[in-house]
Amino acid sequence: MKTSQYDVLIIGTGIAGLHTALNLPSSLRVLIVSKDYAWECNTFYAQGGIAVAVNHDDIALHIKDTLEAGAGHCNQEAVEVLCTEGPEVIQQLIKRGCMFDKDELGCILYTKEAAHSTNRIVHAGGDATGRVVHLFMMEQLRVPILYNTQVTDLLIENGRCYGARVFHADNVFNIYANKTVIASGGVGSLYEYHTNARTISADIQGICLNHSIALADMEMMQFHPTAFVLGNAVRKQLLSESLRGEGAKIVDEDGLRFVFDYDERGELAPRDIVSRAIFDYKDKTHKEVYLDLSAFSEDHFKQRFPSIYFNMQNIGYNIPQQRIPISPAFHYAMGGIHTDLFGKISQVEDLYAVGEAAHTGLHGANRLASNSLLEGLVFSKRVATDIIKTIDIKREIKEFPEVEDVLINENDKELKNELRNIMWCYAGILREEKNLNKAMNRVKEMLELPIGKLLKLRLLVSKEIIQSALNRKKSLGAHCMKEEISL
Ligand code: SIN
Repeated sequence: MKTSQYDVLIIGTGIAGLHTALNLPSSLRVLIVSKDYAWECNTFYAQGGIAVAVNHDDIALHIKDTLEAGAGHCNQEAVEVLCTEGPEVIQQLIKRGCMFDKDELGCILYTKEAAHSTNRIVHAGGDATGRVVHLFMMEQLRVPILYNTQVTDLLIENGRCYGARVFHADNVFNIYANKTVIASGGVGSLYEYHTNARTISADIQGICLNHSIALADMEMMQFHPTAFVLGNAVRKQLLSESLRGEGAKIVDEDGLRFVFDYDERGELAPRDIVSRAIFDYKDKTHKEVYLDLSAFSEDHFKQRFPSIYFNMQNIGYNIPQQRIPISPAFHYAMGGIHTDLFGKISQVEDLYAVGEAAHTGLHGANRLASNSLLEGLVFSKRVATDIIKTIDIKREIKEFPEVEDVLINENDKELKNELRNIMWCYAGILREEKNLNKAMNRVKEMLELPIGKLLKLRLLVSKEIIQSALNRKKSLGAHCMKEEISL
């Protein structure tokens, strides 16, 4: 057993965690813990880009688009922070040397995604924005990362956080810190079909529930309309919304662009609407639904969307000529650990949450496309600012026992898969009260079984999602009660 002491402990190596670290002074002793490799995070797999106002006049429009996509449920102040501070953080990244895609004259290229009223999404490496930005940040980073480290608890006493307990290299030990930042992402692995990194499994949200830290808007789960879900891969292949922004069409097996029957904006309606349209259309017609890429020439497609091109060619699809069968898949949690606009968690001193793990109310009931990487950048900078302002490096350490929990039990894998199926079928795109109750009963039963701590944490968060869905009787944004809607 070994014990360590830092000024700041950051949990997670996505954009929010890395950018927090990059904004802290080198005088602070900072440690980042990563559950797996650093790149096994949602940032790394982000394709489309980063939404940012293209000029001063566009800030108001970016705010308006974000509020509208959020279905009237956004925290307006959080939206204003994002859209107003966004351009500066992107400029700082560019000044530091991050390479976004440019045209032949050296001007930044902006693409469009659904529910944006203008082209305002910067991208890098074509459709590899997350990978390029992640790599860039990793190269800039000057603080250590402890890999393959599972956080098993937060060290909290009398309303103050003192760090985290971790399992690493077959050892349990405590990492003490004056400030702890949760930047561990969302809840993707709770769902059978999802586009998330395999590490994203709601552990820290579950730990928060165990410490009575409030999660908010947990019924607000976003499903991306266009994923390739066939095959056994755990993380389903995302087909970026920017494909549709630049001309891809959603069609049924007869070539009908049926999404227009659901919304006059067709393929470019907000994500929740397009996902529901595909889900409902498949259910009612039993027809296959495809993404038709015939608007692109092969040369252009290969150059603009190289990752999707090579990934789909590897699976055996001759794109852009051949259309790709698609389905919605879980993509992003609007709900999360409730914080203020500096990432602070009100119930616990010295504890922050940022990025997808956090809930500021920014995304409301439905996140506007490509706002999440910007959120990671803007709010992590604010977290770092608050840490610098308030850290007390002489704060007294409090010793905690190094408790060895049983993390995984024999039957957990089977139960975990059952849970994923329950969440997909009963707490997914279209919800019904009777199904939510069924899901709740089974989750409660599972919680009584002899299970490991990691599964217990997943179940606690699933229960929270289901309960929040049951509490919200009327459909709103991504939360859709079947009996409520007329499709
Ligand atoms: C995409 O490329 O479609 C994903 C963008 C996002 O999740 O905002």
